Amino acid sequence: MSEMTNDSLTGSARMEKIVALCKRRGFVFPASEIYGGINGFWDYGPLGAQLKNNLRDAWWRDMVEAPPIGPDGHPLSIVGLDSSIVQNPKAWIASGHVGGFSDPMIDCRESKARYRADHLMVLRPKEQGEYLALFAFLEGEPEPALKRAKKVLRLSVHLADFETHLLSELNEEERSKVYGPDAAKAGTLTEPREFNLMFKTYVGATSSEDNVAYLRPETAQGIFLNYKNVLDTSRVRVPFGIAQVGKAFRNEVTPRNYIFRSREFEQMEMEWFCAPDEAASWFEFWSKTRLEWWKSLGVAEENLRLRKHDQDELAHYSREGEGTYDVEYRYPFTAPDFGELEGVAHRGDFDLTQHQEHSKTKLQYFDPETRERFMPHVIEPASGLTRGVLAILCESYFVDPERPSPEIMRFPSRLAPIKAGVFPLVNKDGMPEIAEKLYLELRTKFPTQFDVKQAIGKRYARMDEAGTPFCFTIDGETTTEQTVTVRDRDTGSQERIAIDSVSAFLSERVG
Ligand code: GAP
Repeated sequence: MSEMTNDSLTGSARMEKIVALCKRRGFVFPASEIYGGINGFWDYGPLGAQLKNNLRDAWWRDMVEAPPIGPDGHPLSIVGLDSSIVQNPKAWIASGHVGGFSDPMIDCRESKARYRADHLMVLRPKEQGEYLALFAFLEGEPEPALKRAKKVLRLSVHLADFETHLLSELNEEERSKVYGPDAAKAGTLTEPREFNLMFKTYVGATSSEDNVAYLRPETAQGIFLNYKNVLDTSRVRVPFGIAQVGKAFRNEVTPRNYIFRSREFEQMEMEWFCAPDEAASWFEFWSKTRLEWWKSLGVAEENLRLRKHDQDELAHYSREGEGTYDVEYRYPFTAPDFGELEGVAHRGDFDLTQHQEHSKTKLQYFDPETRERFMPHVIEPASGLTRGVLAILCESYFVDPERPSPEIMRFPSRLAPIKAGVFPLVNKDGMPEIAEKLYLELRTKFPTQFDVKQAIGKRYARMDEAGTPFCFTIDGETTTEQTVTVRDRDTGSQERIAIDSVSAFLSERVG
């Protein structure tokens, strides 16, 4: 058995391999591919849809059905919700999204391309020649800027010959000397302008401003809008949580890094309503609990970290003294650095107060024990379901150079789209019939695949790429000894077990 590795390939080379496997094996496809695709939108194929559902179900199970144990040793109280994507537009004015949910954007007058201002960096020559020339690039992608620099400076330059700066650090004079990432001339980048990320639509037959509505940019607001309904109809008492999984839409200026930043994506969010004086300790509790959850799924500790936002990174709903932790993952395109996987925000009473004011509906909580009224504060663990799928794909991608088909998706068994493969060794001597019978039995409990096509080695390789933890093969001995071969995806090793113990074997290992 050979040593498997998931770090022999790094950065963009590793990412390219993962993207290619995901396409080839039906995890993720570009949306509308036959029409040339549409930037920032993705479709999840048979394996991807199942993987995403499994991650969603794991979150729902651990958040709503069996919530964590609280600091007092008792289970927390969290209920589920499924709210509408389109809400009354007044809700988005109150939440601050219509006025403030924007990113600074820069246009290029020459190429007509648009960039997020805070993602633009520049290369500045360490030794300036007769004229100053600076070369802009999108964070993490300096190669095109280096190529442009070689052309403009007519020198064989290397990255080490440049300093890197944020575009926003330059003065006006310097900005006029910047070559945009896709431009042949200098000085074509505009000043930054705020660009609202909300997708607008019209409700009803006429498309007038009176009928404007928005696709939700976060699932969270649906929770705030239903906070009173939930309080009035269920037995929850503060502190408690409301959880929701669903689509969110943002007209991102520069969707990139595969499914990391897309324009349509899914979130798994939970709003934890608590007494104001307890909010700070719940903030710490949820930050740590969420980091541990990603570890419990099988994400390696060294690829995860908790990072507190600097004051200038905070969203419009966070005020001084409040804040946000990010659970970050080391994606191949951020490595050796980390990128956001989940945010845990202290939202204070911002949202409920805003909705109370704008809707004229009392949203204060009445504590039946102290007989006091107060506006709960909110701690929000907000993760991306689709971004989580990306982290799981990156984490699970391994290469075993000694296998004929070296690529293996080592999904944690809880998340694996297919839990077992069942094969007849050859398509004769009664083997297909026994294999089909076993398959029919297993599929009542586990997502199982039955495969009779091609040589057994190819069938194992197909299951390795799909990330199936175990394969069971019916062979000549099955008919005489009532045993089957079990092959382990990660080690490639095989053992024989009784055919009537297969189901118990799987239950023990994949749950
Ligand atoms: N309700 C708070 C909120 O929406 P956020 O940090 O903007 O906070 C939460 O989003 C999570 O949603 C992020 O940590 C990320 O995992 C995911 N997310 C945000 N924007 C995304 C995008 N454009 N594409 C994919 N996932 C995204």
